[in-house]
Amino acid sequence: MRNVIIALGTSFAALLTPASPQVQPASAITSTNVELPPGDALFPGGASADAINNNCLACHSTDMVLNQPALSRSAWDSEVHKMIKAYRAPIDEGDVPAIVDYLASTKGTN
Ligand code: HEC
Repeated sequence: MRNVIIALGTSFAALLTPASPQVQPASAITSTNVELPPGDALFPGGASADAINNNCLACHSTDMVLNQPALSRSAWDSEVHKMIKAYRAPIDEGDVPAIVDYLASTKGTN
């Protein structure tokens, strides 16, 4: 029994080891140009957008945020804290009020 297990193990190892004739030569790698869809790089609004530009673009684009439905100030506050707690966004707590102000005035419900 033990020999059978060892034999099986050896044949799986053989399957997982790439056979050298199939390895592609490095010259098979070529460059390609890709046109990415345009997106606004920064939140508009000048200085009032500094806090959101500094804290919210590491993981997603401005479009991701600006295409959300309008929310109340408290819902935006929860959203920013969700980024911090659920997604570990490295956001300085001191920047949160400026971010929430920006969101409430550009995508707010009132
Ligand atoms: C550490 C990465 C990270 C940072 C930084 C970050 N987010 Fe997010 N955000 C995410 C992830 C992950 C999702 C969920 C994406 C998905 O569902 O496809 C998300 C989703 C969102 C959504 C969509 C609604 C939702 O709850 O899923 C909004 C709005 C949003 N983020 C706003 C912000 C704002 C405002 C900031 C700055 C305060 C921010 N994010 C910073 C990771 C981040």
